[in-house]
Amino acid sequence: MNHRIGVLISGRGSNLRAIIDATRSGALKATVALVISNRGDAPGLARARDAGIATLCINPREFADRDAYDRAIVEALRARDVSLVCLAGYMRLVGRTILEAFPDRILNIHPSLLPAFRGLEAQKQALEHGVRIAGATVHVVTADLDAGPIVMQAAVPVLPNDTVESLSERILVEEHRIYPQAIAAVLDGGDGSRQSPVISRQSGIEALVAAVPFATAEAIKVVDLSGAPTDVSCAVQARFPRAAIKTFNDTFDVAALDWWDAMFGADLVVAADVMPRLTDAKKQYLYKAAADRVSTRGGILVLDRVGEPGSPLLHHLVWLKHAGFGQVDCRWLVDGVAVFGGFTPRPAAASELPLQAGS
Ligand code: GRF
Repeated sequence: MNHRIGVLISGRGSNLRAIIDATRSGALKATVALVISNRGDAPGLARARDAGIATLCINPREFADRDAYDRAIVEALRARDVSLVCLAGYMRLVGRTILEAFPDRILNIHPSLLPAFRGLEAQKQALEHGVRIAGATVHVVTADLDAGPIVMQAAVPVLPNDTVESLSERILVEEHRIYPQAIAAVLDGGDGSRQSPVISRQSGIEALVAAVPFATAEAIKVVDLSGAPTDVSCAVQARFPRAAIKTFNDTFDVAALDWWDAMFGADLVVAADVMPRLTDAKKQYLYKAAADRVSTRGGILVLDRVGEPGSPLLHHLVWLKHAGFGQVDCRWLVDGVAVFGGFTPRPAAASELPLQAGS
């Protein structure tokens, strides 16, 4: 089925461009049926016209009140058989009339990892707050500003000399990637995304790779417990071209001595998606054994779901500390999916006799 999308914009429309491109390449099985702006001079309107897409400027000043304005928008969208509405830099609140006409069928993209930094100037808020990881969120629009159910997120690192402009640009790259994907997910899955928010696996991996505290030119020694080269090891290799990454054909097994041997002297042990298969006792054992084996600056990074009923994040951080890692931190936590870990094992831990596998 070819879905018909309506896009509301107020500005330059780079996300609109990404959506149009995805419909044209076939990545998004939908058509942009109409682009509406509250501003006649929005550069995005000209972009849409150039792409041969129907456009409308609906100027709020020409309506008696907000409700009359919203009704005009609904009529225009309905006249074009639109079934999903995407806000892309639309700088007005969406009123009840539009929300009721398209229940759970309005999406928005926001330049932060919601629920952090709602409202205007999210990138500036993030910089002022000193966060190390920023990002973008696609969410379902509800009556509360930037607060509806999350459909997809992507994380980007905040770099030491970032300005609002440089951070916004980095986030925008991710916006353009995830907005079409999120629209496709909502169109494919109906509104299933409301019950179980989709965290893009890609964004978790990016957050994990961004948390590795070594210079990209270093020939770091990595052990990826996920097993035979996965998207995680590929992402690590892409950021650290000189890294030596050790994998085995199967994912990590506490009883496999090869895995334990490979950890000796490693700078980084990557445990993505391994934790759900381990009991709490085995998780603690893994942390302790990794601390005993990695290099003096080395560490372990984990990508895991850490909400209830599993082990809460706090347990992991305490276990990592107890295992002997000096720097223990959570680098990214979105909807219960976290990237966390420990680095720099205490010399005492590194000098103790390694534990026996299975003990
Ligand atoms: C984007 O940063 C988006 O997250 C926010 O407004 C900006 C729109 O940019 N809602 P563009 O008009 O799509 O280029």
